[in-house]
Amino acid sequence: MKIAVIALALFASFAANVYASDGTVPIAGPKNTTVADTRETVVLPGFERDKILASMRRFLKGTQQVIEGLASNDMKMVAQGARSTSPQPLSKASLKARENCPKGCNELCEAMHGGFDSIAAEAEAGKNKQVILEKLSGTLQRCTACHDTYRYDMRAGNELPALEKP
Ligand code: HEC
Repeated sequence: MKIAVIALALFASFAANVYASDGTVPIAGPKNTTVADTRETVVLPGFERDKILASMRRFLKGTQQVIEGLASNDMKMVAQGARSTSPQPLSKASLKARENCPKGCNELCEAMHGGFDSIAAEAEAGKNKQVILEKLSGTLQRCTACHDTYRYDMRAGNELPALEKP
């Protein structure tokens, strides 16, 4: 009986430490990722990470709308979808929190917004689908480049001490 309990305890502690079935293990500490994940971690306070991820979901929705508009020859829908991805005004706390974002990350973000602006302008001018598709492809490359390079994480304790939730 004793042996069974010890074996069970050993198994439980082993199972808790193994992260994935491919043998990768978590890196200790706040990074909260696996050795197999080589993306650069961008550390943000929790409220800002939530806000950025909500924007990401908005970008995906906008992209879907652009594609639906193209498929149904509805340039108004294309323009609306592209415009819906526009950056929203940032509070002081958000601006401060984003000082942690690397330059490359900000540049990809700006390039993506520029791409959507240009898609909206083309659609509003009634330009042909091929041009818009090429622009969409270029814009989506910004998404994938950023996703391949960065991940967001929260600062331990979930907040930067100097910041207040907006
Ligand atoms: C500036 C860099 C950057 C750009 C540009 C970018 N993303 Fe992201 N996105 C990220 C990061 C980093 C994450 C979080 C990944 C992680 O932590 O594992 C993310 C997460 C997401 C998520 C998951 C959201 C959630 O709730 O978890 C979606 C969906 C997404 N992005 C869609 C897009 C789309 C669509 C585009 C382009 C139209 C885009 N992103 C452009 C960096 C970017």
